[in-house]
Amino acid sequence: MTGKSVMKQAARAIGNTFSSSDTDVETTDILDTLKKEHDEVKDLLENLADAETPAQRRTLVQKIKAALVPHTKAEEKVVYDAVIALRDKDAQMDGHEGYLEHEWAAKTLQRLESITNAASPEHKAAGKVLKELVEHHIDEEERNVWKDVKEHFSDDDRKTRYYEFDLSYTHWLGDVVELRPELRFDHARDAEAYDNPSLEPGMGKHSQAMIAMDAILHF
Ligand SMILES: [Fe+2]
Ligand SMILES: [Fe+2]
Repeated sequence: MTGKSVMKQAARAIGNTFSSSDTDVETTDILDTLKKEHDEVKDLLENLADAETPAQRRTLVQKIKAALVPHTKAEEKVVYDAVIALRDKDAQMDGHEGYLEHEWAAKTLQRLESITNAASPEHKAAGKVLKELVEHHIDEEERNVWKDVKEHFSDDDRKTRYYEFDLSYTHWLGDVVELRPELRFDHARDAEAYDNPSLEPGMGKHSQAMIAMDAILHF
């Protein structure tokens, strides 16, 4: 065995381990949690814009869906419904505008999922439109809706406790294929922050779990 192949085997042995395993418990302002989720979705949309292979693009679309759908459902229930219930007409309008923009994002995401060829110009166009819609929406939301929330709700009103558990694993098949399965579990102790979108509105959930896997080819 040559020195080079020993090094490669050692590197692979290190690679074939759990790369992260941690649990976070925090009491946090709902707006900080939403900000974290916004940044996560924006990064995924950025990655989709750069991704070329159909497998990468399909995985990213699933990750975007897993991040975006629970976020928008929880936001509608926890934030938009609260601002729409205020007497402030401008705040009510911001809430309704948010609902409408979520609808457009959900439609575009559905369209993106329905395009079979994930490397086609049509898929890339749908990804671009979704990115533009979501970026515009997040920008306005952080400016207008959050201003309404800060104006009408105290720091204590906005606090809830979240638990986050992440487990990821990297496994190499030979020198070419890298598999990265990931398991994530989120739990909101004091709020029904997550919805199962297949259920009736109003049936909020305290927890959500996500299983995803990247398959990367190195050649
Ligand atoms: Fe939103
Ligand atoms: Fe949002």
